[in-house]
Amino acid sequence: MVKVTYVAHDGTSTELHGDPGDSVMSLAIAQGLDGIVAECGGSMMCATCHCYVDEDWAGATGPRMDGEEDMLESAASEVTGRSRLSCQIRLTDTLDGLVVHLPEEQV
Ligand code: FES
Repeated sequence: MVKVTYVAHDGTSTELHGDPGDSVMSLAIAQGLDGIVAECGGSMMCATCHCYVDEDWAGATGPRMDGEEDMLESAASEVTGRSRLSCQIRLTDTLDGLVVHLPEEQV
């Protein structure tokens, strides 16, 4: 299992456990976590799965995917250098312990 900690805008942390191959978004949706909407279901057609990768994990999650940058322009909250679409971050064993922060708004 791969542990992911989601830190809400108010500082509340939630730990979820997924399998390699899950996305950071799909794990959150499957567990009913607030803070990720994922209107398009993971096809990179919305920006309602926006998250900020914790600075300690920025290298491990790799660069943004093709097209991700453009879609992030429509995000409801501020986009920073650590912004990612959580549907584009696939869990692997090396991401065990990953921490992501959730924006104030997704829509
Ligand atoms: S769920 Fe729509 S872009 Fe990630």
